[in-house]
This record gives sequence, C-alpha cells and structure tokens, in this order.
Amino acid sequence: MNPARARSFGAVADDYDRLRPPPVLAALRWLLPASDATGPTVLDLGAGTGLLTRALAAAGVTDVVAVEPDDAMRTVLATQSPGVRVLAGTAEDVPLPDASVDAVLVASAWHWFDPDRASAEIGRVLRPGGVLGLLWTFADPAEPWVAAMRHVGRADDRDATTVVEAGFAIDLPADAPFGPGTSEVFRDRTWMAAEDVAAMTGTWSSVLTLSAQERAQVHREARALVAAEVGTDPVAVPFVTAAWRAFRRSSER
Ligand SMILES: C[S@@+](CC[C@H](N)C(=O)[O-])C[C@H]1O[C@@H](n2cnc3c(N)ncnc32)[C@H](O)[C@@H]1O
Repeated sequence: MNPARARSFGAVADDYDRLRPPPVLAALRWLLPASDATGPTVLDLGAGTGLLTRALAAAGVTDVVAVEPDDAMRTVLATQSPGVRVLAGTAEDVPLPDASVDAVLVASAWHWFDPDRASAEIGRVLRPGGVLGLLWTFADPAEPWVAAMRHVGRADDRDATTVVEAGFAIDLPADAPFGPGTSEVFRDRTWMAAEDVAAMTGTWSSVLTLSAQERAQVHREARALVAAEVGTDPVAVPFVTAAWRAFRRSSER
C-alpha cells in the first residue's frame, strides 16, 4: 500500500465525483443481503465523494453511513448526499459501535487499507451474519480503445484483465471473522462526453501521483486517443464492477 497514492484523490475531489463511474447496479443487488421491512444499515467505507452512497440511495437503501478520511472528498460527499451520516475515519479505526451495521461495502478502496487491521475493525462493527462486500469499478480493458487509454493512464491492465477473464479471490487474514468469499463480475455501459472520457484518466492514482508536466502529457495523449478512436460525440463506455463478498461468522471463529 502506497500512502501517497492512497490519499491522492482529494486534490481532484470535484473531478473525481464528476468523472468516475458509479458501480454497476446489479453488483449492489448481489452484494446486499435480502433486507427486512426496515432495510439494512450499510456502511460505505472509504466512501470518497459518495459514488457508492448515491448508488445505494438509487437502489432504495435508506440507511447509509459513510466513513472517509479525506476532508476534500468528504466535503463533496456531504454536499451531494445531504441527509447521509458522514463521518471522518479510516478502515483501521471505524468510528462506529460494535455490531452496529448489516453490511460494510468498500468501493475501489480495499487495496488502500491495512488488511489485518481493517478486517478486524469491519468484523467488530458488522452484526453476525452481516456481509462484507468489496467492489472495484473500472473501464473494461476487453475493449481495445479502452485498453489503449488505460495504457496511456498507466493503469495496471494485467490485474484488470485477469479479474475480467478469470474472476478473483481476496485473501483475508486467517483470523478474520468471515466465512469463505465468492466473487462475481458485472458489466454495464455509461454514456460519457468524449472529453470527459479522456479527463477521467486524471482521476486515476497512477496519474495523480505524476508531476504536473507528466499529468498534462497523459491528458494530451488521452484526448488524442479518444478523438482518434471514438470521435467527439458522447460514447457508451464499457465498465466492469468486480465484486467479492463474505459473511461475518456468528462467533469470533
Ligand atoms: C479510489 S477512492 C474510492 C472512493 C469511493 N469509494 C468510490 O467508489 O468512488 C479511494 C478512497 O479511499 C480512501 N482511503 C484511503 N485510505 C483509506 C483508509 N485507510 N481508510 C478509509 N479510506 C481510505 C481515500 O481517501 C479515497 O477517498
């Protein structure tokens, strides 16, 4: 885990919120437990600007609490999702009581956490039988022009392609209080302005941690590529949400 990359997003919080895709809706349906009459309490952990928080609201989940360490990201979230409980905190130190939520969802953020401390904390705040859901949403490298854009933005295509083609497993620490995990991959397309597709590369941590000069170069290359490959009209960009879930054991082991 690279701390500079982990906290790089706040510098572009507004662009991040505008340009990053929400998770594919079908993934949320798969991740969330069948809810009772009152619906589940869901923790959006490492919530960023609230892309997942808003998707949950759109899916009909009414009780969401968002935890996010970065002030700039949290400010956008609070503005975009008035009425949602937004707390400063980290995955390693979650500011919630024991056994207080039914689901913990982590969107494009698990890889920034300390897995030992985070899984213990998530086990603490989850009610027995509750679900831990990890998801990553990214532009689908199976489409050649997207793969070329990901290359320009220095994204790790080996990982992304493996996930899309072969699925994936998450290794939680051996003493984490969770049953076995399962994964699924979901696909959808999101309409975006061509200019925004190119600008999206500027929200990737692989680009955010470059020098200003290098970032400008990536943006120029991404714009040229998008203009050549898809033109200037809005484009239906293929996205993948890779999702993994495991349920909290009833007792510590
Ligand atoms: C790629 S963004 C994902 C944001 C949001 N979940 C989404 O899907 O758009 C990663 C987020 O994880 C947050 N983050 C980094 N380290 C964290 C930690 N240790 N605990 C909680 N959040 C963390 C960052 O501040 C950032 O907002």
